[in-house]
Amino acid sequence: LLKCALCFFDLLCLECGFLLQYEYFNAVLINERDEEGNYLELGKEFILVPNDHFNNLPVNISLSDVQVPTNMYNKDPAIVNGVYWSESLNKVFVDNFDRDPSLIWQYFGSAKGFFRQYPGIKWEPDENGVIAFDCRNRKWYIQAATSPKDVVILVDVSGSMKGLRLTIAKQTVSSILDTLGDDDFFNIIAYNEELHYVEPCLNGTLVQADRANKEHFREHLDKLFAKGIGMLDIALNEAFNMLNEFNHTGQGSICSQAIMLITDGAVDTYDTIFAKYNWPDRKVRIFTYLIGREAAFADNLKWMACANKGFFTQISTLADVQENVMEYLHVLSRPKVIDQEHDVVWTEAYIDSTLADDQGLVLMTTVAMPVFSKQNETRSKGILLGVVGTDVPVKELLKTIPKYKLGIHGYAFAITNNGYILTHPELRPLVRMLFTDPFYLAVCVAFVFFS
Ligand SMILES: *[C@@H]1O[C@H](CO)[C@@H](O)[C@H](O)[C@H]1NC(C)=O
Ligand SMILES: *[C@@H]1O[C@H](CO)[C@@H](O)[C@H](O)[C@H]1NC(C)=O
Ligand SMILES: *[C@@H]1O[C@H](CO)[C@@H](O)[C@H](O)[C@H]1NC(C)=O
Ligand SMILES: *[C@@H]1O[C@H](CO)[C@@H](O)[C@H](O)[C@H]1NC(C)=O
Repeated sequence: LLKCALCFFDLLCLECGFLLQYEYFNAVLINERDEEGNYLELGKEFILVPNDHFNNLPVNISLSDVQVPTNMYNKDPAIVNGVYWSESLNKVFVDNFDRDPSLIWQYFGSAKGFFRQYPGIKWEPDENGVIAFDCRNRKWYIQAATSPKDVVILVDVSGSMKGLRLTIAKQTVSSILDTLGDDDFFNIIAYNEELHYVEPCLNGTLVQADRANKEHFREHLDKLFAKGIGMLDIALNEAFNMLNEFNHTGQGSICSQAIMLITDGAVDTYDTIFAKYNWPDRKVRIFTYLIGREAAFADNLKWMACANKGFFTQISTLADVQENVMEYLHVLSRPKVIDQEHDVVWTEAYIDSTLADDQGLVLMTTVAMPVFSKQNETRSKGILLGVVGTDVPVKELLKTIPKYKLGIHGYAFAITNNGYILTHPELRPLVRMLFTDPFYLAVCVAFVFFS
């Protein structure tokens, strides 16, 4: 019993399962049966009733359920443990919904990768049987979990990177891009004896990590090929110069800065470069990703990451990429946790296709907030537990601004900190059109003027 009491507070040990009366409803497995007609493990019966508040989707308004991406193990102890302690959110979700019946989805995205959603619904895998949704890649999660950041990604394209290593490296870059959002700035440099900006037009600067820029860089990634020898010193110099200049001129996020280094080894520790640019303050964090199975040069990369407040990871297969890339987010969220910053973030408006009604598509925004433990120990280590969020239909926001208060010619509009329109009487879900229309440009300019 003592052993179980101990593990109760630490990691859940599965032998003690009998102590833990909890239900793990996996949103994909619920109501599924095997050939003999028995419910699948983690599935069980989960009663779903169509609900008109949720566009007649079958939901269960007394329980939440849990989704886990396909590339993760459903019964990973960290996930099982998290599902267990987050079960008490059920009561919070139900109470919230009682108090405010206009609420729609409420959810908790865990730093371990699972996603608890209320009301509980059934999830279907895509046509390939895959659940690709990983809450940690969503804008609301990243925005709430980390402070805005400037990131320079350095990719080794020397001869030794040929073949699978280059493929893994490209996938790693792409996964890093997934974790960047509108508050972040980035650039990608491939290096061998020379520097090759992945987008040569953006030589020497950083660009906002909005969807269009990220897509553009992704297309250019395919053109990388490996040859020659890798001169990491040149690349590091360029990255530091770029980050310094960007910060000093007040561009960029003016918050945290990082260099992501993706390589199959480093022959040196490059102390002189770090001494010149980054020590003793270590304001630029260095994250190193060792590609491949060999660990011969791991020590240098580990040292570089440790000496610059970053993190080292080894990625040996394509399947490892996503999970290993996520590690850096834990490091970047640390200062937020230690300072207990509970900032609320709002995302830009987006279209929720599940709730489209007869009046057409519903515009939504997400409100999110980071979650951390208040225990002194976890607090001092800066461990982020996850992010809570809820979706808000934009028309609910407008109800707080009644027409009679605005006058005959008055109307309300709202814009996010990144210049995206949240609501405007003329806003139609045709995102690309927005900024080509001079009227909308005028709206933005007016806003900047008033603020
Ligand atoms: C939700 O599902 C549970 C488990 O199947 C069931 O006991 C409960 O009655 C359901 N709640 C509603 C409101 O349907
Ligand atoms: C970046 O642009 C400058 C000036 O146009 C040029 O001298 C330099 O070689 C370019 N660097 C790279 C890596 O393309
Ligand atoms: C960026 O510049 C500001 C003000 O000049 C400074 O306080 C901050 O530490 C700098 N950040 C980095 C990462 O160098
Ligand atoms: C936690 O830390 C605070 C401030 O550092 C201290 O006042 C408090 O007593 C600590 N609590 C525990 C349980 O150690």
